[in-house]
Amino acid sequence: MTHRREPAEAPSGDDPHSPIAPLLHFDGGEFDGGSAQAAFRVTHALCGHPLFELERLVRLSKELSPRLVEYNPGSLPVIHDPSTTPANSLSVAETIRRIETCGSWMVLKHVERSPEYGALLDRCVDEVAAAAGLDPAKLIRRAAFLFVSSPGAITPLHLDPENNFLLQIRGEKAMHIARPGNRAVIGERALERFFSGGHRNVLLDEDLHDHLSRFELGPGDGVFVPMPAPHYVHNGDNVSISFSATFHTLETDTTQGVYWINDKLRRLGMRPAPPGVQASADRRKHAIYKSLRAIKRRLPPRR
Ligand SMILES: [Fe+2]
Repeated sequence: MTHRREPAEAPSGDDPHSPIAPLLHFDGGEFDGGSAQAAFRVTHALCGHPLFELERLVRLSKELSPRLVEYNPGSLPVIHDPSTTPANSLSVAETIRRIETCGSWMVLKHVERSPEYGALLDRCVDEVAAAAGLDPAKLIRRAAFLFVSSPGAITPLHLDPENNFLLQIRGEKAMHIARPGNRAVIGERALERFFSGGHRNVLLDEDLHDHLSRFELGPGDGVFVPMPAPHYVHNGDNVSISFSATFHTLETDTTQGVYWINDKLRRLGMRPAPPGVQASADRRKHAIYKSLRAIKRRLPPRR
């Protein structure tokens, strides 16, 4: 079954950029209660949107705080130690303008802080809520990211700390994604470290491809990457632009909090239960985590 958000009134023509036309199309059967046990395909109607033109992205990169713009060489191996990443000598604007030839990939983080991108993110996530039969308020901590990549660029195997609808706008890429519960790919201790601020890259033997599912994406395609599913990205022969609409549910926010607390308990010599094993302990750990997160948010930013 294809879930489409029913517009509140008749759509104005077939314009996919109309504020009332549905943006996402996916099978809600794979998406239960705002979460999923494995990655699945979606399609979308965002291609050609003016917010994804290169010059608009250059403008956006200048609006964002420099710490929200990350760019990397695109020649990294699939399994990569982040301490050995070489520097990119171009500015952000130069990297975007020369993306066809500069052999890089970059990410513009938290682009929802720019109001137009924030409105687009909310439309996407509200449609997810409608398809999943959820109150939109239950899809929390919403954030959007934009990826701009040179032909052939590789993003090494890594984790992301949120549920992610990765929507391909321009060019092609292959996403290789493990199931979030596959402990052959990543163990509990590595997850605890990641959710306590460890680097996102996952270091593993090369012999892991049997555990990953491959999703070929072209313009108009997308994939849902559930948290915490390790994945790597191999771009095709053209410049690639992808929009990432991310969010948490109570379940994934709890998982993140439990891993954060478990890391601390492990350092004290304890052997804490992983998330999902002891519901009452999970709730207590999540409550502590949320309280500490709220305190941290009130502290002045570190310089
Ligand atoms: Fe990712």
